[in-house]
Amino acid sequence: MKHLLSIEQLSAEEITGLLSSAAVLKKERGHHSKQPLTGQTWALIFTKSSTRTRVSFEVGIRELGGFPMFLSKNDIQLGRGEPIKDTARVLGRMVHGTIIRTFAQQDVVDFSEYSGIPTINALTDDEHPCQILADLLTIQEKLGGWEGKKIAFIGDGFSNMTISWMWAAKRLGFELVVAAPDSCQPPADFLAKLDAPNVSITADPIAAAKGAHVINTDVWLSMGQEDQKDKETEFAGFQVNAELLAGAASGHIVLHCLPAYRGKEISEETLELHAGTIFQQAENRLHAQKAILVELAG
Ligand code: CP
Ligand code: NVA
Repeated sequence: MKHLLSIEQLSAEEITGLLSSAAVLKKERGHHSKQPLTGQTWALIFTKSSTRTRVSFEVGIRELGGFPMFLSKNDIQLGRGEPIKDTARVLGRMVHGTIIRTFAQQDVVDFSEYSGIPTINALTDDEHPCQILADLLTIQEKLGGWEGKKIAFIGDGFSNMTISWMWAAKRLGFELVVAAPDSCQPPADFLAKLDAPNVSITADPIAAAKGAHVINTDVWLSMGQEDQKDKETEFAGFQVNAELLAGAASGHIVLHCLPAYRGKEISEETLELHAGTIFQQAENRLHAQKAILVELAG
């Protein structure tokens, strides 16, 4: 594996291999036998806000012996219009790897091609692969795995999170039900490309949550959609709350990639009731991403 650009591009074996490595790194935190990033500098180019992704990558790089270099879009000429391919060609001659959070998936692809150095997608409009690896690790820890489990995603049916989750279901074969308002459902051409009979789409959140072992949600308006406030009205009935969870499987868990907007996609009561899992999920960003860094550092 040279880059980590999407879940779509990973095989089932690559996903489970990264998760096994993440579990070991989690156990060995503080006394790693190897520091594969020793002497390396990894750049983080972020054109969107971040708490978890930035902190977990900076800490993870240091714990593996490397140096993180955070570059917000406005710190570098990219923010003044220098093309991504030129930025990539410069950084490729100076740093050992790059982690990018931006809008267009194509920018991350272009960066990987023009830089020639390991490139990690830290969230684009199309995918959030690092998050999904942390989510899967959390499911393994809390439920022992996804075999025979029903996973529901309630909210925006065609965001970076749902797209990555749909590819994870395709690769790993678990049952995924996405409940989204009609206007936020994945389009037919995407579903045809996905070609996954184990992924179903509904506009009925109660039906999706019924018997589900994992109930997952995310913000209704992703970064870059802040001016689409009207869209929020379409999500009436899609809040993850006690009523929605009443029909879920016993022992179910609730996941939220965070940041959470209480009173919108999740109720205050539900978030606090499931905070143990949700913040374990947030912590798992660190361990999953260290596994990615170890893999890409070779
Ligand atoms: N879940 C996630 O990616 O969080 P940040 O936006 O804080 O990085
Ligand atoms: N879908 C959300 C995820 C945030 C981590 C967004 O893109 O804003």
